[in-house]
Amino acid sequence: MTTANEAQREYWNRDDARHWVDQQARYDEMLEPFGAAMLDAAGITSGEHVLDVGCGNGVTTRSAARSTVDGRALGVDLSEAMLERARALALKEGVANVSFDADDAQTRQFTPEFDVAISRFGVMFFDDPAAAFANIRSGLRPGGRGAFIVWQALPANEWMAVPGAAILEYVDPPDGDPTAPGPYALADPDRVRSIFDTAGFRDLSIDAFTAPMLVGGRGTLDDATTFMRNSGIARAMLDDKPANLQERAIAAVREALKPHLTDEGVQLGGATWLVTATSS
Ligand SMILES: C[S@@+](CC[C@H](N)C(=O)[O-])C[C@H]1O[C@@H](n2cnc3c(N)ncnc32)[C@H](O)[C@@H]1O
Repeated sequence: MTTANEAQREYWNRDDARHWVDQQARYDEMLEPFGAAMLDAAGITSGEHVLDVGCGNGVTTRSAARSTVDGRALGVDLSEAMLERARALALKEGVANVSFDADDAQTRQFTPEFDVAISRFGVMFFDDPAAAFANIRSGLRPGGRGAFIVWQALPANEWMAVPGAAILEYVDPPDGDPTAPGPYALADPDRVRSIFDTAGFRDLSIDAFTAPMLVGGRGTLDDATTFMRNSGIARAMLDDKPANLQERAIAAVREALKPHLTDEGVQLGGATWLVTATSS
């Protein structure tokens, strides 16, 4: 694999990928409304060939494969561990028209064979987003479609802002460029517009899609707290801190989540952009 995103490749092959693999069912439950909205926008029909960018454990790739029936779906991702899980689940669920490749979507050599490119939160990690989307577009046949879902800015996302504010009572906020590769890199619609224009897409739409989400999937307050504690962002903020400070910060997260506990689990709002476009 040649990769332009070496730091991301390393990141998604270390502990964070482990959390995504170990907690795959919880992530899929939590993110389900967003994958469903993205797949709805993609409008996949029978016989189409689908590319899922940054497919992770592959739930959206398998859904796409089911929708296309006589077509096929390919998931591309940097994370070997998540792809292994994706392949195992496809086998278990009997989805045969699906395959998964370890590769960098920014540099993979595509041929224009796909009718649709999709992604659920897998396209915010490129070091050169315009080059990456141009490369993804090179995999689309003329007139092919793209449907990508990305996070709006962190303050609009209660599910991160609420526990995040609790942690910030104990540690300094992480500094850095908000447009750097990471979950919120495509939060600014003007930036998305410019990236997609440069990448050669047309008919661009950027629509807000918000939904309540179950933090860490269905479960108890403690399940949600543990899930958030072990997420990449909390680990980055807390792991190097003294144990007693970590404990107090996590107790504060639990308290902050408590008012949002429902019969199903801790429920907080998620805010995304649903980005659709066609290949010129
Ligand atoms: C937030 S996870 C989302 C995974 C999956 N789409 C889901 O919704 O469960 C982001 C994924 O993007 C992948 N990724 C990041 N940069 C990538 C790149 N340049 N090429 C391919 N995959 C990438 C990561 O390895 C990770 O699996």
